[in-house]
Amino acid sequence: MDKVLLEVKEGIGYLTINRPDKLNALNNEVLSELNSTIENINKSNDIKVVIVTGSGEKAFVAGADIAFMKSLAPKQAVDFARLGQEILFKMEQSEKPFIACVNGFALGGGFELALACDFIYATENAKLGFPETGLAIIPGFGGTQNLSRLVGKNIAKEFIFTAKMVTANDAKNLMIISEIFKTKEEMISYAENTAKQIMKNGPIAVGLAKRAIADGFDLTKEDGLKYEASLFGVVFSTKDAEEGLTAFLEKRKPNYKNN
Ligand code: COA
Repeated sequence: MDKVLLEVKEGIGYLTINRPDKLNALNNEVLSELNSTIENINKSNDIKVVIVTGSGEKAFVAGADIAFMKSLAPKQAVDFARLGQEILFKMEQSEKPFIACVNGFALGGGFELALACDFIYATENAKLGFPETGLAIIPGFGGTQNLSRLVGKNIAKEFIFTAKMVTANDAKNLMIISEIFKTKEEMISYAENTAKQIMKNGPIAVGLAKRAIADGFDLTKEDGLKYEASLFGVVFSTKDAEEGLTAFLEKRKPNYKNN
């Protein structure tokens, strides 16, 4: 268990893909450790927000492992794609926020890992893209679905058909990433501040807001609104909501207990 590291400090889980000699490329071993790490995060009471990054300065994740994929028969390729999709979908479905901190290359499965997070920060040297069609394959860990939902079908098609890599600036202009930083240290420190900001808020409310956006996104507007209203009702069943509303009226800081 050393290909995916998890460190926990003051409510923040630091998840690091740790295979720097292969630019953190995702093979079965990394995926299996990523899967169990996400499951542990979801079960943990200590982790409130997760920061996802890659080991070293050069790459977040340079994609699924090409040497491994070369050996796949069609049925195994389907299984590999489904496995990657299921693992990344667990992050999207988690009620905890995941912040991607993209240091360097986020290509193919690495871009998909970042897209499965709730938002993305990147360093100036980041390069993002889907090189798959250049290898005569296609993105398989949700890239065709998530990028098109994020930036629209046409931009997603341009990315995927051309296999181009874009800079952090280009990605920010397309609203794929939220902020750009000179160094990895600056980026992590900013992500920690964001995490602390999130942790001041009602944890159940944050989780349900994530659910409302994630699950509501693909519904019709009318169904999305009904779904939002039903989750609005759920938060009103929590003690934290009572505390938050009361604390405001009593002009004091709220003390949330995650219940
Ligand atoms: N799968 C397997 N191994 C990978 C990899 C991947 N996706 N990306 C990088 N590596 C390995 C390289 O093979 C090399 O291994 P080696 O030292 O044993 O030869 C090592 O990581 C370092 O990569 P290298 O290519 O030497 O670094 P570079 O700085 O010259 O180039 C990239 C960096 C990211 C441009 C280049 O590695 C690359 O194009 N990687 C593949 C990206 C890709 O197509 N990803 C999508 C796959 S679907």
